[in-house]
Amino acid sequence: MLKRSKWISYPVNMGFECPVIFKSFKTEKEIKRATLTISARGCYYATLNGERIGNFIFAPGATSLKRVQVQSYDVTNMLGFDNTIEVTLSKGWFQGRIDWRGSNDYPNDYEAVIAELSVTYKDGSCESIVTDESWSARRSAVRFSDFYDGEHYDATFIDESIVGVKVQNYDNGILVPQQGEFVVEHERIRPINIFKTPKGELVIDFGQNLTGYFEIFVNAKSGERVSFSFAEVLDVEGNFYTENYRSAKAEFLYTCCDGEQSYKPKLAFWGYRYIRVNEFPCEVTLDSVVAIVVHSDIKRTGYLESSSPLLNKLFKNIIWGQKGNFLDIPTDCPQRDEREGWTGDAQVFCRTASYNYDVEKFFEKWLTDLKIDQGDDGGVPSIVPQYWGDGWSGCGWGDASTICPWQIYLTYGNKDILRKQYSSMCKWLKYIALKSKNRYLWTGCEHFADWLGLDAPAGSYKGSSNDDFLASAYYLYSTSLVIKAGKVLGRSVQKYEALYERILKAIRKKFKKYKTQTECVIALHFGIAPDKEKTAKQLADMIIAKGTRLQTGFLGTPYLLHALSDNGYSELAYDLLLQEAFPSWLYSVKQGATTIWEHWDGVNEKGEFWSKDMNSFNHYAYGAVADWVYGVSCGIKTVDEFPGFERIVIAPIPTDKLDFMSAQIQTRRGLVSSKWFHEGGTIRYEITTPSRTTIIIDGKEYNVEKGSYIF
Ligand code: BGC
Repeated sequence: MLKRSKWISYPVNMGFECPVIFKSFKTEKEIKRATLTISARGCYYATLNGERIGNFIFAPGATSLKRVQVQSYDVTNMLGFDNTIEVTLSKGWFQGRIDWRGSNDYPNDYEAVIAELSVTYKDGSCESIVTDESWSARRSAVRFSDFYDGEHYDATFIDESIVGVKVQNYDNGILVPQQGEFVVEHERIRPINIFKTPKGELVIDFGQNLTGYFEIFVNAKSGERVSFSFAEVLDVEGNFYTENYRSAKAEFLYTCCDGEQSYKPKLAFWGYRYIRVNEFPCEVTLDSVVAIVVHSDIKRTGYLESSSPLLNKLFKNIIWGQKGNFLDIPTDCPQRDEREGWTGDAQVFCRTASYNYDVEKFFEKWLTDLKIDQGDDGGVPSIVPQYWGDGWSGCGWGDASTICPWQIYLTYGNKDILRKQYSSMCKWLKYIALKSKNRYLWTGCEHFADWLGLDAPAGSYKGSSNDDFLASAYYLYSTSLVIKAGKVLGRSVQKYEALYERILKAIRKKFKKYKTQTECVIALHFGIAPDKEKTAKQLADMIIAKGTRLQTGFLGTPYLLHALSDNGYSELAYDLLLQEAFPSWLYSVKQGATTIWEHWDGVNEKGEFWSKDMNSFNHYAYGAVADWVYGVSCGIKTVDEFPGFERIVIAPIPTDKLDFMSAQIQTRRGLVSSKWFHEGGTIRYEITTPSRTTIIIDGKEYNVEKGSYIF
């Protein structure tokens, strides 16, 4: 791609200052069509005659460092007689602080642009303008830009010293067509309050923890400044709190020109609910700034509703958690010095994500990067794209390589994802066998395991569940998914079937007892527990002994309610779902959360923070509980043999604890919805299905075709 174009950059490394690469040209005939094909190392913000080209924010997106996506924009209506194309470049994911390789280690690795503008004239002739030595460069008004630290824009800055560009001999072979969704602007949210904190700081509250940027409106004299800091929460005294952003400075600085003006940051984003106004040239009002939500352009498909306002708020928070963390890659959180594609978080949330939104294309791209960054030994990096680390993988994190493709296949019914990922799935199993100290188990390796489980020993982030047990269980589970995927693709899976039996036997032999909630959950959900009834009772007893409270972390939580309801304890599952005291999903809601928290007591009952190092208030992982509401409470289940909702099982499990629950998923085949509610002493079910469905109500099966049904 872009074979005739050259990679060009500013002639010297500009650090975190953004250069502009530009070219002026004339088009002297009537234009039929003009297309700009463009990409960059770093992120680009391109304009033609002063107008932004396209709506892709942070183009060309976040990919493995081994490939860069190329975009094409129709610019026919943007061209005039005299034209200037300008491309502002930031380090973005490529070499900003988010890429933990550290830009200092790569002083000769420049952000660079490559582009071709193809113009077809009405007379049939064509012309191409390609990036080459004829382009020029200057320093831009974006004086500083980094995802973690923010942006400084100086509206008074003019660089008179135009210089020639440097042609870089970067490989064009890494260019690939755009694969993912564009990241675009979504809602604009007005502030709900402006107030002074006890410390006397001026703070704007948007009422919603969100990811994106904002637009400011200001009347100023040249040189006056707007300076903002960002926070997700206030501390117990009501003061502005930024410690949980860790080393991310998360600032915004704008130097004004004269008069009325507005500005939107070009190449940075923040995760925030509150803005502290450090400097502002005029009175700050509710009209001074509007928040702009930015995320991948995924289409909403799923909706949940219940008779409980708290639960409904939780459902909203789950959606906000997804919006805030689906910014080209599935990130752990959008605010502190991470914002990385943590594999564990992505696999935990993948099913919920795929019901809430159409994320097929989004995951296809991310999984392609996972496969590209997977080591030769099969190791899956803890974060994808792999901006740091040595490909070390732990259980439940590396297993994103098997769990996500299988889920995307189940939700959307397209075999392509399995075809593309199958070799990566198999390689992952090889990696486990290679690293494990025991045959047919996964032992002796390092894991994040039940990350942030509440049964963690003092001073540790890791729950008390046995690493070797969890790892071996995931080995078993991933093997089962390779078998399923292999069968779909018509591959011979005998060796994996034999492996599965051996792992199961070895786990059962070695791990006879389960000592934590998460161990019980995993033993039940992955079909390991030989005596399900006994293990389910143990789990239920443990939960009740804690006062009907969970103790689970990243690996136990997603399957906790499933393990209960699959084994006769659906009422206990509802008790946990509806639990309002710490620790629970609704605890954070009662504390005023507007997104999903990373830790069950991000803010504890005294109003204090549990930690400053690991305390994000926008971490979607525990939002995975939504898939239990879709799939068990409302009972909408995919069928392995008929994926993509070609056939459906709908088996709702209602409760007396709620008046109603309803779920809707706009599938590729049409709307599937399931609602149950109490009416006149009985329960009424309203079900709509787009395909042949087995409805199971009170143990009775009804086989129905597409349509709407009432029971
Ligand atoms: C991230 C997590 C991630 C974890 C690994 C954290 O710092 O924020 O969500 O999965 O590290 O355990």
